[in-house]
Amino acid sequence: MSTLFIHIKELLQTREKAELKVMGKSMSELPHIKNAFLRINGDTIHSFGPMDELVVEDSDEVIDVTGKIILPTWCDSHSHVVYAGDRSQEFVDRINGLSYEDIAAKGGGILNSAQTLQNTSESALYQQSIKRVNELVKLGTGALEIKSGYGLTTDAELKMLRVIKKIKENSAIKIKATFLGAHAIPKKHSDNKKEYLDLIINHMLPEIHKEQLADFVDVFCEKGYFSLEDTEQVLNAAAKYDLIPKIHVNQFNAFGGVALGVKHKALSVDHLEVLNNEDIEALKNTDTIPVALPGCSFFLGIPYTPARPLIDSGLPLALATDFNPGSAPSGNMNFIVSLACIKMKMSPEEAINAATINGAFAMNASKEYGSISIGKKASIIITKELTSYRQIPYHFGNNPIYKVMINGVFVE
Ligand code: NIG
Ligand code: FE
Repeated sequence: MSTLFIHIKELLQTREKAELKVMGKSMSELPHIKNAFLRINGDTIHSFGPMDELVVEDSDEVIDVTGKIILPTWCDSHSHVVYAGDRSQEFVDRINGLSYEDIAAKGGGILNSAQTLQNTSESALYQQSIKRVNELVKLGTGALEIKSGYGLTTDAELKMLRVIKKIKENSAIKIKATFLGAHAIPKKHSDNKKEYLDLIINHMLPEIHKEQLADFVDVFCEKGYFSLEDTEQVLNAAAKYDLIPKIHVNQFNAFGGVALGVKHKALSVDHLEVLNNEDIEALKNTDTIPVALPGCSFFLGIPYTPARPLIDSGLPLALATDFNPGSAPSGNMNFIVSLACIKMKMSPEEAINAATINGAFAMNASKEYGSISIGKKASIIITKELTSYRQIPYHFGNNPIYKVMINGVFVE
């Protein structure tokens, strides 16, 4: 069965399949075809081009999308979408003057979510989480990385990762799983961090490996959480199980986490709200991609990742939501693309590249997702009628989406 879209106003992000990320100046180029066709065969992109090169075949279901734009689905490479309950009380506490750090110091924050998750069954956790994932798909997300890190005991971390595995099995979108046992130090081990690191290294990692529950490993490398030495210990242990690092660095303090990530061949270094020249230098000529999370900056009122120096230094940049109950309770990639343009001075072309092909790269999925390329998965967004793709970030907070197709099937 093949589906043929005709009269596409703009077909965005048309690339050779071999192109896996874009960096520096190339980020300002968003290849596209005006008045285009796109043929989908099964779950795969079969062909595309300008309308005047189209040959219609008998087997085609033909859909005329005059006035509408088609682009690849968003690739959200950093989320904590599996969590229990919410933290709307802390939201109100922050409105009333407490900072994110104050709340964490009082035993709220990540430890609050961990407490709620401890008391939530695996099936309830799955139900809460899959509902959120399904909402994200309607908002155009076609590939999603999900982290553990609200368990903080072996059983609860395994519970989270099993829920992520179940989402992988039951959702049509691409899911990647990251083990983030080193997200916070649980109360029980607050006087003895080494004890908790031992638990991660000698108990959690072997169990996770046994059940093949993770693709990546993450550490919250930050003052008051995990130091450079702690981070290195976890990354070394995870490397024995072939877990590639994707790490939280430079959210509040810059102290060498970026260089450490590069040294350990991290796929990505994420957050980077606080960034210095050494960090930028460390990233040059490496395969580690920086990831910005502007939803977190927006929600917490902290600085935005300095996109301009990163891109103007020739580096790639990806955008992700960081969807989590504490610092970024939204997984809407359309809004993230707007924020990147409005607050980080990225052009619409740069922001769309960062949220598609570079997002896919940051989760090791850009061979299949992130661009309109022959042979890649037919996961696409069909927009409402728009004058140009610039309207996607321009109408911030608006939903530009008419329909979403995942692997060749329309989302209801
Ligand atoms: O990426 N920074 C650490 N982890 C999350 C926040 C987690 C939380 O507050 O629950 C983040 O912002
Ligand atoms: Fe995060």
